[in-house]
Amino acid sequence: MTATEQRIEKLRTEALSAVSDAATTSELEDIRIRFLGRAAELSEIKKSIGSLSPDERKEVGKSSNLASREIENALSEKKNDLASSERESKLRKEAVDVTLPGVPFQRGNLHPTQRIIDDVVDFFVGMGYGVAEGPEVETDYNNFTALNFPEGHPARSEHDTFFLDEGLVMRTHTSPVQVRTMLENEPPVYVVCPGRTYRNDSDPTHTPMFNQIEALVVDRGISLADLKGTLNAMARHVFGEDAKVRLRPSFFPFTEPSVEMDVSWGDGWLELGGAGMVDPNVLEEVGYDTEEYTGFAFGFGPDRMAMVKYGVHDLRMFFEGDLRFLRQF
Ligand code: DAH
Repeated sequence: MTATEQRIEKLRTEALSAVSDAATTSELEDIRIRFLGRAAELSEIKKSIGSLSPDERKEVGKSSNLASREIENALSEKKNDLASSERESKLRKEAVDVTLPGVPFQRGNLHPTQRIIDDVVDFFVGMGYGVAEGPEVETDYNNFTALNFPEGHPARSEHDTFFLDEGLVMRTHTSPVQVRTMLENEPPVYVVCPGRTYRNDSDPTHTPMFNQIEALVVDRGISLADLKGTLNAMARHVFGEDAKVRLRPSFFPFTEPSVEMDVSWGDGWLELGGAGMVDPNVLEEVGYDTEEYTGFAFGFGPDRMAMVKYGVHDLRMFFEGDLRFLRQF
């Protein structure tokens, strides 16, 4: 055996034992480069074959080719082994234990007032009304003046208004949305306006922030009978087939005549809110032709409705955010 052949034999054993010791596929790649790469000793030997004597050329050519083939085979066999055990350990590490208990899912529910609001709004949308909203910070003009509250009129002070700077107020009712709607639309108008309202008042049946739902209809030939029919239909929808509405005389600056409306509840009556025929002064203020159009409007508190429907005695509990209370609905 020539010195070159001995060298080849040594490289072959070294390579095979390195392959068998390799623990990862990336180590195998290093081994391949070290023993079979372009700069590897075995490759150098192959390159020098041309300069050997014919006898030597044959022997060295044969044994160097055999050695490389053997190393290649060992590499690819080992590579398969490692790849499949690497895949297996990765799968094991990423396994999901489907028997573990899940994270408990907290299911929310709608606030009692919101249920009433959704129910009432759905009813009016079903009758073809639009839904209108306005800002909670409102101009004194939209909240009072355009609704026929004269400057210094006692009805203004009855509202316990939160006054802000520069002629702005926290709106005391949703009626200013009537004004905004009429300024932006020509009649006929059919809208329902839910929203938050504010008054400086707090006791078991009053909170500084409360909700109102307003409705406004302006069209040709609208009468008080249309108002009553609409209210009765709404009462049946919210309180059941036997519910009825009764009207009592009242006063609001923006309606003439004005009424309080009550809905039958158990053996008695529940005060719902105010209503009336839109005062011609209000229609004129927004540029509507009062010879051609009349309208009705009403506004009531869905919080009060929720108190009655769900038997809650203190309105303030609706706004305290106590989950023990809210989860009961
Ligand atoms: N805005 C009135 C209030 O908050 C309620 C009301 C009364 C609304 C009569 C109306 C109405 O639309 O016609 O006290």
